[in-house]
Amino acid sequence: MKVAVVYGGPSPEAEVSRKSASGVILALKEKGYEVFPVELDTNFLKKLEEIKPDKVFLVLHGCPGEDGTVQGLLELLGFDYTGCNTQTSAICMDKDITKRVLKTYGIPVPAGETYFSEDEVELLELPCVVKPARTGSSVGINLARTEEEFWKSVREAFSYDTKILVEEYIEGRELTVGVLNGKVLPPVEIVTETGFYDYGAKYEKPTTNYVVPAPLPERLEKRILRISEKVYRVLECRGAVRIDFRLDEKGTPYVLEVNTIPGMTERSLLPKAAQAAGIEFPELIERILKV
Ligand SMILES: Nc1ncnc2c1ncn2[C@@H]1O[C@H](COP(=O)(O)OP(=O)(O)O)[C@@H](O)[C@H]1O
Ligand SMILES: [Mg+2]
Repeated sequence: MKVAVVYGGPSPEAEVSRKSASGVILALKEKGYEVFPVELDTNFLKKLEEIKPDKVFLVLHGCPGEDGTVQGLLELLGFDYTGCNTQTSAICMDKDITKRVLKTYGIPVPAGETYFSEDEVELLELPCVVKPARTGSSVGINLARTEEEFWKSVREAFSYDTKILVEEYIEGRELTVGVLNGKVLPPVEIVTETGFYDYGAKYEKPTTNYVVPAPLPERLEKRILRISEKVYRVLECRGAVRIDFRLDEKGTPYVLEVNTIPGMTERSLLPKAAQAAGIEFPELIERILKV
């Protein structure tokens, strides 16, 4: 079976995707597949047409690629690919739309406002979180504790996107749940120095700790897993996705966002969760491939 692994591209998260891809390529080779690495450049379609893969394994983070554009193109041209379809990818790329959809299905999300220009913005409550609607890897996301920090964060968020979210700050624990082909994996707890999982805590700080399975009372764990299954179902996800949560001090879980192509380096969160469930990395990659 021929598998083309597509990665990279012009997205600001392309470097992370290249790291994910090298692990995926090794895993696929280990499982005996014929693997073709393909960078997402202006030539990538031509390369795919030459390779004629049985399946395209997508390892793209950010825009373009995680947003449904590449999925749509592949679908139109008859290439079979891994992960979510165009519609699900496009919805999940936009944190504002994702929250609105989930809310209508009764899934708890942080309260907040959406703004399309700086002069619409109002300071409603502090502390709050300010984020661009369509970035990833915590790019342009800030916790604002003072009025000055708030306006600075608003300006920064608008430098990345034409739509921003201002959300209530959910003080408490941070969890993430992987769902593999509709089945939930054990929750992972992320313990950061500051309580805010920003870019530095994600990629630069060795002090960030990951606890898997997250120590949770049984009822709360069940609730979080039930919510995760429902998120996967109502958004019609496919393959492996990762749902980010905050847990407030009363123990109410809030969904922050859904990652349709989660990080796939061996250190990434979803592979850690899979391993805790007894699924080693190559096996995980094969299960994503085979859906
Ligand atoms: N409403 C919120 N309350 C508390 N922390 C938040 C909130 N929104 C985001 N964060 C923090 O910022 C991080 C990144 O936000 P997230 O919405 O997951 O975007 P992304 O991971 O795509 O950059 C989260 O992991 C969390 O630590
Ligand atoms: Mg996130």
